[in-house]
Amino acid sequence: MCGIVAYNGGRRAYEVIVNGLKRLEYRGYDSAGVCLVDGDVKVYKQKGKVSDLESFIGSSPTDGSIGIGHTRWATHGEPNNENAHPHTSMNGHFVIIHNGIIENYGHLKTRLERRGYKFNSETDTEILVNLIEYIYLKGNISAEIAVRLALTKVVGAYGIVVICRDEPGTLIAARKGSPLVIGVGDGEYFVASDATPIIEYTNSVIFLNDNDVAIIKKDELSLKTVMNEALEPRIQTLDLDLEEIEKNGFDHFMLKEIYEQPRSITDTFRGRISADHKNIHLGGLYQVLPRLVKAKRIVLIGCGTSWHAALVGEYLLEEFARIPVEVEYASEFRYRNPIINKDDIVIAISQSGETADTLAAIRLAREAGAIVLGICNVVGSSIPRETDAGVYTHAGPEIGVASTKAFTAQVTVLTLMAMLLGRKRDIISQARYEKLISEMMAVPNKIEKILESNEIIREISAIFKDSTNFLYLGRGYFFPVALEGALKLKEISYIHAEGYPAAEMKHGPIALIDEKMPVVVIAPQDSSYEKVVSNVQEVKARKGVVISIVTEGDTIIKSMSDHVIEIPKASEIVESLLAVIPLQLLAYHIALMRGCDVDQPRNLAKSVTVE
Ligand code: M6R
Repeated sequence: MCGIVAYNGGRRAYEVIVNGLKRLEYRGYDSAGVCLVDGDVKVYKQKGKVSDLESFIGSSPTDGSIGIGHTRWATHGEPNNENAHPHTSMNGHFVIIHNGIIENYGHLKTRLERRGYKFNSETDTEILVNLIEYIYLKGNISAEIAVRLALTKVVGAYGIVVICRDEPGTLIAARKGSPLVIGVGDGEYFVASDATPIIEYTNSVIFLNDNDVAIIKKDELSLKTVMNEALEPRIQTLDLDLEEIEKNGFDHFMLKEIYEQPRSITDTFRGRISADHKNIHLGGLYQVLPRLVKAKRIVLIGCGTSWHAALVGEYLLEEFARIPVEVEYASEFRYRNPIINKDDIVIAISQSGETADTLAAIRLAREAGAIVLGICNVVGSSIPRETDAGVYTHAGPEIGVASTKAFTAQVTVLTLMAMLLGRKRDIISQARYEKLISEMMAVPNKIEKILESNEIIREISAIFKDSTNFLYLGRGYFFPVALEGALKLKEISYIHAEGYPAAEMKHGPIALIDEKMPVVVIAPQDSSYEKVVSNVQEVKARKGVVISIVTEGDTIIKSMSDHVIEIPKASEIVESLLAVIPLQLLAYHIALMRGCDVDQPRNLAKSVTVE
């Protein structure tokens, strides 16, 4: 949450920063602001989106080639102009942009107030910039030393970039808990919360680690720790195309990402299935595989959509590898004193690799001695760096705040893991293993086929766009899919939706059903089909309106449903990958028809780097 962009080089900083903020806007869009240095230090900020900031500023305000910019997801203080970043210290010596939360800001604020400091905003960030200034003026020291000393007094998370009016050619960037990437160009440097604003200029990057401080001049970068130990910058080459982070003719990133799934799933299993299709290799797990095969228990952790993928993973791993699995919300796991055994395998699932709750749960599990693996999408993000081993999902950048292709890529990795462990533990025969591999490989074409139903789904969406509640029902693998379908709808269309195990409906939610309640039933022909037929009858008996997702050629549920979306026949092991696609499209069209901002739904941010 919150996007940071900074630039120091030969270009017009304003253009680089504003373009970068637009790319990072998925991280937060409550307000935006820039600080530009051109002789003087000028700050412009505005409530709303980056486009509101642009309208407020008018044409490029300066030719200056150094500056910082921020797009905010509010934590401390409501979204307004005062709380927008950048924040300037009381005497004007420092300007800061910040992503994260300063937890001891109350204590620091009291101490600064005693020394005469006054504050204009409700933010924790304004406390930090004033603390830096106070230390700077009191100690008569350099800006860099003041920043580092101030950071030793801070409890919490930060990714910051600071400009000192007295040293206007230098940016000071620091990170603890909130990601920062430095792009290394030819005589120029870029700083950003992730690589998306940088990639059009350079693919040479340095990922800052916690407690790193970078001192960035136009053609010189030095890196040290907060405690002033010199560090050698490690430049990495990123494999990311500009095309991947643009809409490419689609109206929204979400739609583009839904349509990308045949490719993103292929990219996720590509190179992991042997050329003869007889085996699976997960290179990232190579070293831990013997322990994984012998695992007595696997704990899957994640948040939101990643938690839903974990639930699918639980069904897959228990069925195919016969290893007991528990699924935990990372946010609960970290605070409930969980029992973690030394031979447990904890697998953290995260698109961004930066989710604060998931990172904290990882640290807890590692302290307890468990092996911790990651299933992440963003290369170089914090989770892959803090886990013992893991598997990247290769879904490509996901910009739409509502997760779509990341979910199917996570489920793809979990499916490959379940098959691999099932074979290694001799639970499944080689013949069955090969059959399952071919089922996996057939998924992209089947998704292409489902995408052809887009128009049918759009027509159904038009009928239900004004509904105020939705119920999603599924059993087995389709229960997590029901949860995911409901989450998609509520987060982008603001319609209340609940996902439920179909059989549980009669224990409560059935009371909600009347002729105004659309019930989405995920009912492809699997082992629980007959049971779901009964559940659909129960809904119809209460005059509920049924929208069903069924296997092509289905007649029974089709005859009972008001609206039907067909998906191709597939093995149960991959059916959740297919069944979720119509639900993504349904949420997309309904949100669009209700005039909602599909890619940037209210109150949300793509990457939740605070508790
Ligand atoms: O980056 P992560 O996968 O760790 O993010 C977890 C959730 O914040 C995320 O899945 C969220 O629920 C999405 N908005 C769902 O569409």
